[in-house]
Amino acid sequence: MSGDARAEIASLRGQLEHANRAYYELDDPAISDAEYDIIFRRLQELETAHPGFATPDSPTRRVGGGVASHLPRHVHRRPMLSLANAFSDEELHAWEERITRVLPSTRAAGYTVEVKIDGTAVSLTYRNGELMTGATRGNGLVGEEVTANLRTIDDIPLVLRGSGWPALMEVRGEVYFTRIAFAKLNARRAQDGDPLLANPRNAAAGSLRQLDSSTTRSRRLRCFAFQVEVIEGDAVSPTQHGLLERLAEWGFAIEPHAGWHPDLAAVHRRIVELEGSLGTLPFDADGVVVKVDQRSLHDELGTIGGREPRWAIARKFAPEVAITRLRDIGVNVGRTGALTPYAVLEPVELGGVTISSATLHNDDNVLQKDIRIGDTVEVVRAGEVIPRVVGPVVAVRDGSERVFVPPAACPACGTPAVRDPDEVMRYCPNASCPGRAFEGIVHFAARDTMDIRGLGEERVRQLLDAELVTDVADLYALTTDQLVGLDRFAEQSASQLVAAIDASRQRPLSALLFALGIRHVGRTVAIALARHFHELTALREAGEEEIAGVHGVGPTIANAVRSYLDDPASARLVDRLTDHGLTTSEPRAEAVGGPLEGQTWVLTGSLPTLTRSEASAMIEQAGGTLGTSVSKKTSVVLAGEEAGSKLDRARKLGVEVIEEAELLRRLGRPA
Ligand code: IVH
Repeated sequence: MSGDARAEIASLRGQLEHANRAYYELDDPAISDAEYDIIFRRLQELETAHPGFATPDSPTRRVGGGVASHLPRHVHRRPMLSLANAFSDEELHAWEERITRVLPSTRAAGYTVEVKIDGTAVSLTYRNGELMTGATRGNGLVGEEVTANLRTIDDIPLVLRGSGWPALMEVRGEVYFTRIAFAKLNARRAQDGDPLLANPRNAAAGSLRQLDSSTTRSRRLRCFAFQVEVIEGDAVSPTQHGLLERLAEWGFAIEPHAGWHPDLAAVHRRIVELEGSLGTLPFDADGVVVKVDQRSLHDELGTIGGREPRWAIARKFAPEVAITRLRDIGVNVGRTGALTPYAVLEPVELGGVTISSATLHNDDNVLQKDIRIGDTVEVVRAGEVIPRVVGPVVAVRDGSERVFVPPAACPACGTPAVRDPDEVMRYCPNASCPGRAFEGIVHFAARDTMDIRGLGEERVRQLLDAELVTDVADLYALTTDQLVGLDRFAEQSASQLVAAIDASRQRPLSALLFALGIRHVGRTVAIALARHFHELTALREAGEEEIAGVHGVGPTIANAVRSYLDDPASARLVDRLTDHGLTTSEPRAEAVGGPLEGQTWVLTGSLPTLTRSEASAMIEQAGGTLGTSVSKKTSVVLAGEEAGSKLDRARKLGVEVIEEAELLRRLGRPA
């Protein structure tokens, strides 16, 4: 029996450590919060039942989270604690029972209830009313210093308003994304071909750890403050609700639903109200925090194992889940021709809004989860903006359900769909497919592609409906007269649009390559190709191997580029665009004269904090060039985890090998 317990404890610890690392260090959660809580509680139970197996380094003893390497460390003057959870009213009552047993006067003080914003915790140090440093929570004892990035958040005052603040204090709060800002960020990433961020919480954590503060600023983060640790000076307020008022006076943003309640019955009523309006909040929240209002009692109540305070508890809401019927499975055609299945649902309320569709990701997902048309399905929206189908409720099947057969042909144009054996997506290969046209033209005209001002979704729809265009090349034949005949087009707006289309002829080759919507070719790849080949004709004549050799490209992308250029329909489209006088060259980058001037670098393995394209961009900006294979001419090999044969070869040839931290040091970035 105890052998089983020992094995289970070891396995649970392993799972939590893996999850902690994925969450805190990689900003990429491996499991859901609910799963984490279940595993954590099971481990706590086993450790209590078998104290002999409890060890000081168990994840239950630590606040969780590691400290990433590229940012300066910040030691918190007081630890940043986490919160115990209550998942039901009973558990909330049990909490009150426990604390009144420790300290009978607690009940008389009443409670504050604050919405628990789903973001990332920060600590802001103010000396004499001025923001000195800002840091992430890290492992609760040591975080990362991200002052410059926190200074870009408008909700955080750089100098406090009013008066009466302690000479030295740490203000604690939560940095978060609004749902709209998060959706916009992901939309932009999708357009650039960057991987999408899993949820607003991890996106907020990642945004704070950017090396370039202008990136952080562009993400429009927000912050609510909710706590003060006085280091030098007088206490701020005898109560938590009074403290929130003071924070607001000093210029901090305060979560607007926070308020005082005389007893637990009132707390319950408030929780029911808040849970009902959760889906309509402009940000994600996963529950409320109930806090003993009388702050003098906080110290007396103390903490549990230095990890969680006794004076506060998180009352978690159930995740936003709904059960409904899957009426049908539709297939959407994206601009690169990707065929994506989506769920057509019997309308159902989910987190305060009615939904009638949800994503099914890809065909394999549907088949693996055995999701059938007519099934009763579970739908969730946990952090993400677009709801997704979790799976079928198999027990209630009546036999009328139909297995989904991915269509053999594109639903928009009938061209047989293609699928690479090692990919999950299927594609419509027809470059002039009308299903691809709408999204394709919108993408072509966007700011970071051909930058055609005034050509947004609505106008593209109008041009397609009026049959004035069928593809992007047709844009260059449009005349003012044709447009004036359309709804909402006056003489002036028509000529402005024609002028904007005309001006786009000057966009460089990299913009055009990105604009074409070639599969796998996002902005970064387009720039790499344009810089390497300089001329469109050179790219059109290049063999697949040469294309694959361009840094940051590789065989899959090269194959997609070659297939695009070889496809008669897309080749014709490119011909028509060049006939219309579009720029087909890339200006040569000027010599920059940076610290890595004249050096050839090779990257291998995965780096601890930077992506490969970030590292490549930094090397190039500093004057270095990138090579794909290691030779005697290679100056430096930048190696990360799981570096393979390139590392061996570098060692054999005596080429210098360094790690990411050393690169950052050489570029004068803090390590
Ligand atoms: S109080 C010791 N209040 O939830 C008190 N935390 O699960 C700890 N959070 O690390 C924090 N909203 O990041 C508190 N109104 C709120 C909060 C809040 C969100 C986060 C915070 C904390 C985590 C604990």
